[in-house]
Amino acid sequence: MAEQPRNGGSSQSRALNGKVTVVGAGFYGSTTALRLAEYDVFETVVLTDIVEGKPEGLALDINQSRPIEGFETKVVGVGGGSYEGTEGSDVVVVTAGVPRKPGMSRMDLIETNAGIVRQVAENVARTSPDAVVIVVSNPLDEMTALAQLATGFPKQRVMGQAGMLDTARFSHFVAEELGVPVASVRTLTLGSHGDTMVPVPSRCTVDSKPLADVLAADRIEDLVTRTRNGGAEVVALLKTGSAYYAPSAAAARMAKAVIEDSGAVMPVCTWVDGEYDISGVYLGVEAEIGREGVRRVVQGDLTESELAGLREAAEAVRAKQADVADL
Ligand code: APR
Repeated sequence: MAEQPRNGGSSQSRALNGKVTVVGAGFYGSTTALRLAEYDVFETVVLTDIVEGKPEGLALDINQSRPIEGFETKVVGVGGGSYEGTEGSDVVVVTAGVPRKPGMSRMDLIETNAGIVRQVAENVARTSPDAVVIVVSNPLDEMTALAQLATGFPKQRVMGQAGMLDTARFSHFVAEELGVPVASVRTLTLGSHGDTMVPVPSRCTVDSKPLADVLAADRIEDLVTRTRNGGAEVVALLKTGSAYYAPSAAAARMAKAVIEDSGAVMPVCTWVDGEYDISGVYLGVEAEIGREGVRRVVQGDLTESELAGLREAAEAVRAKQADVADL
């Protein structure tokens, strides 16, 4: 018997809703577009790039997988830096920019990617003035702040992807270390997507037991360090380009939470205004995500040292974000 399409192959598809544009059809953008299409939630996924032909070709290729994977979402490719077809997007995921090379820090990308992100943000503001914008280009915290400035959008409508990814990396390492299903592990990282990432062991559990009860402190510290360097570890192995499977999974989940107005609570880079006694900075914290972007920052219990780490991260990114207006 022929293999059935994954989603059942029913001609009675459920209602698809809205349009998401993914800017940048590189590794991160194309895998994000594929994941979004396979969710079968959006009516249209638009994939764009400055390169002519690449997004069109990738869109055609993804569309040809529809009969096999059983999704109805249509993918549209738009090359040559055009925004035609993206108009009125509900969500825009910004992946345009250059990735790291081995030995580079995310901050080494700032000048190149600032020029790209500013130009993309201005185009998004012109063509999709009501969109929720999810930024993934690095350095993440600074590029998110810049995208908000350049779009002029309300701060809750511009957020960055980082905490979901860092948290997923931490959970994966814990599950591997203990030889347990990844589904039994809950972890959390806050702060910046970089050196001042703040893993939060007090909020980490394995089968609902505190992580500290099942793993020695020095092993937790090792996994925290590996998580903090999680992106660099992948870059060093790949030699060209940076990670995209786990990052695209995180960005796509955020876009899905927006269009479904789900209220899912996830760690994201968002504007913090008084929570944890921190104000006026884009920072990685937990937030409730819905149709208008960030509904509210969710302030959880932290230990004294975790709170100190978060405040330190806030000051470090604040200093860097202060300069983005000039980039
Ligand atoms: N508009 C649209 N697309 C652009 C623009 C622009 N102004 N400038 C560059 N691009 C496109 C490139 O043509 C390329 O196809 O962005 C894409 C980037 O793809 P990759 O080089 O494969 O990089 P990727 O791994 O996708 O990473 C993108 O995400 O994780 C971050 O640090 C990473 O900032 C980088 C971004």
